[in-house]
Parts: sequence; structure tokens; C-alpha cells
Amino acid sequence: MGFLEKYVKQCRKPSGGFGRFVGRSMNIGHTGIRRWGIKQITVNPDAYILDIGCGGGRAVKELASMTSDGKIFGIDYSENMTELSKRVNKSFINKGIVEIKHGSVSSLPFEDNMFDIVTAFETYYFWPDLISDLKEILRVLKHGGKLLLVNEVYKDAKFEKRNNKWVELLQMQLHTPDEYKQFLNKAGYHILHINTDSERNWIAAVAEKV
Ligand SMILES: C[S@@+](CC[C@H](N)C(=O)[O-])C[C@H]1O[C@@H](n2cnc3c(N)ncnc32)[C@H](O)[C@@H]1O
Repeated sequence: MGFLEKYVKQCRKPSGGFGRFVGRSMNIGHTGIRRWGIKQITVNPDAYILDIGCGGGRAVKELASMTSDGKIFGIDYSENMTELSKRVNKSFINKGIVEIKHGSVSSLPFEDNMFDIVTAFETYYFWPDLISDLKEILRVLKHGGKLLLVNEVYKDAKFEKRNNKWVELLQMQLHTPDEYKQFLNKAGYHILHINTDSERNWIAAVAEKV
């Protein structure tokens, strides 16, 4: 297996020394899509936010720098990624603004109705049971709280050849913008908007718990 294939395969659950390298690389490589994604929502200074599949922790750090009275939680099912996220967010953790937890989207270690915003960058592709996992997120969102899904790949004929290679390597799930609407509705969300950058094959979906 070549370097690129080894690298891509790590994205599902970065582990070990090479996983840490991949986590740090994603922190840098995902900067463009992360910032494009965060712009899709309003982040109030007192927001309680959860970032699922937080990986190397840069989204958590950027969200923490946007809030003065809020709190940002990150969660990931890779222990190596939670360690890395803790290192990257050390000063915010020491100030009590950030908390990083180890765990899965399928069983979130949080109370009902806790978050104003839940974000998920480049991770929903790997979730084991999409509808049930989205319902679990709905549980921890406040009424009026928002889910932001941001992904640099969605199902589109223009990118089919490239995307099929990734799907095969990573066993990931992809959806069209219409399918996003369907699965979010099925899980009980009210869709606010779904934006795409069709040149780059990027997608951001914002949905609300009513
Ligand atoms: C491609 S990486 C993206 C990391 C980070 N969000 C970013 O944009 O750089 C996907 C992340 O989702 C995590 N992940 C995948 N499935 C998960 C699940 N079921 N529960 C929690 N985290 C998960 C992986 O461990 C990995 O850190």
C-alpha cells in the first residue's frame, strides 16, 4: 500500500504515531473547509458547543476563540485523537473553556438539551448508524439548537471517479444534497439550509431541533 492510501485509510479512526501525524495534518489541511463551514452559523459568545469527531482539535480551538462566556466540548472515538485535541487546546482547557472526551457519536456522554450548536466536520461518513446517531445528537441539542455538518465530499456525478476511490478505501457513506435533506428530516430535524460549493465538492448542512 502506498503512502497516500495508508494516509487516507487513517482518516476513519486515526491511531498510533502515524494517526497522530494524520490528525495534525488534518488540522492544517482542513483549515479552508472548516472556516467555510463555521461561517454557515452564528456563534454567540455564550454558546455551548459540541464538536463530534474532533480529530486533532482545531475546530474546537477556533470555536473556543469565538466564545467568551460559552463552553466547547470535543469528542472522538480515537484515544489518540482525544489526546492530540487535549494538547492542541491545553490553554483553553486550563481556563475551563474546553473539555475533550473520549466516546462515540452513538452514545454521547452528555445530558439532554445541553448544546446550542453541534458541529461535525468530515466525520459523518463513518458513523455506524446515521439515523440513530443523528437522533442521539438531537437528544443533546437544545430546542432551537443547530446541527452543522460540513464535508469536503458529497455524492455528485462530476466527482464520481475520485470519490469512488475514497469510498472503496475508507468504506465511507456519501449522499447527494437531496439525500442530506431526506436523512435529516427522517432523524427529526428541521432543515435551515444546505449549501454546496460545486467546484470543490464541498457541502454544509445546517438543521435545527424545533
Ligand atoms: C476525517 S477525521 C476529521 C477530524 C476533524 N473533524 C477534522 O475535520 O480535521 C474523522 C474523525 O472522526 C472520528 N470518528 C469517526 N467515527 C466516529 C464515531 N463513531 N464517533 C466519534 N468519532 C468518530 C475519527 O476518529 C476521526 O478523528
